[in-house]
Amino acid sequence: MSEPIKVVVTGAAGQIAYSLLYMIAKGDVFGPNQPLILYLLDIPPMMGVLEGVVMELADCAIPLLHGVIPTDDPVVAFTDVSAAFLVGAMPRKQGMERKDLLSANVKIFKVQGEALDKYARKDVKVLVVGNPANTNALICSKYAPSIPRENFTAMTRLDQNRAQAQIAAKIGVPVGNVNNLIIWGNHSSTQFPDASHAVVQIDSKQLKATEAVKDDNWIRSTFVETVQKRGATVIAARKMSSAMSAAKAASDHMRDWFLGTAPGHFVSMGVVSDGSYGAPKDVVFSFPVTIKNGKWEIVQGLPIDDFATKMLNITGKELEEERLEAIAIIEA
Ligand SMILES: NC(=O)c1ccc[n+]([C@@H]2O[C@H](COP(=O)([O-])OP(=O)(O)OC[C@H]3O[C@@H](n4cnc5c(N)ncnc54)[C@H](O)[C@@H]3O)[C@@H](O)[C@H]2O)c1
Repeated sequence: MSEPIKVVVTGAAGQIAYSLLYMIAKGDVFGPNQPLILYLLDIPPMMGVLEGVVMELADCAIPLLHGVIPTDDPVVAFTDVSAAFLVGAMPRKQGMERKDLLSANVKIFKVQGEALDKYARKDVKVLVVGNPANTNALICSKYAPSIPRENFTAMTRLDQNRAQAQIAAKIGVPVGNVNNLIIWGNHSSTQFPDASHAVVQIDSKQLKATEAVKDDNWIRSTFVETVQKRGATVIAARKMSSAMSAAKAASDHMRDWFLGTAPGHFVSMGVVSDGSYGAPKDVVFSFPVTIKNGKWEIVQGLPIDDFATKMLNITGKELEEERLEAIAIIEA
């Protein structure tokens, strides 16, 4: 067993954290031999609720969990952390404009970026889940200049997992037989879920998902729209936003970042764009990546047709607009 690592989860009293904390504590993310100490950050009014979460974590009696520290102080939460799950954000309330949400949340991520910059390990891996996740991650990174930009990522893994599940159901294979789905761009309804590079295992043979589905029209319309709108569909049914699946996706994202991707497989992550595939630079854009030794690399050379080019442009434009709005809010 190695020394315990420090892991912070913000929004720790919220509904995603309620599933995520258990997954992290029992070794789903950092492996079965990596002990950890969990730092749980939330805002002062939530400290009572957080006490209950701390009690439940203790009652889970998980051997890998060497400590749990609840706090409302970012200094306590971020000091020497190796991994940060930034889940905490203000949820959209009735009557709130997108701009109001952006305004409340970019300020949170500015403050947390500054705290990470001062107190976290310089190799900390930061996953932003709180929405608007891509732009929050960009702002967080801008206010943490002493930490490399590649250490800030935004979560589009839930969209990837949703896309994988839709393709598996359409073909009628277990979800684990489908790989290499891509989410391009923003974690919003402009995202482009792309099945054209996906592969599927059928009876020990590997096929292109498009060949197995045999319905290009479905792939370009129903599939894309179902994945883009899945979050809203879950809210309509559950009256609350996706939480268990969001927690599983956060766990998948950080596990692959720490432990690497399987040979021949890629996953989607929002990362600071270098302009690959014509995406705008200096926004956090979701790309297909492979990961080795804790470092991600954008998969290069995938063919992009006219339809995909159009879809990438739409989501790229939205991210440029969000960046402008976020900077205006911060500088106001
Ligand atoms: N990227 C994705 O795929 C994805 C998927 C689902 C949800 N989300 C987003 O994740 C976020 C959390 O969702 P949830 O369902 O857990 O929400 P929730 O409202 O249940 O929990 C959010 C928690 O964050 C806390 N919080 C607010 N401001 C904070 C701050 N400054 N510091 C620390 N904690 C703070 C709140 O007190 C609350 O406990 C939301 O922004 C949601 O939109 C993202």
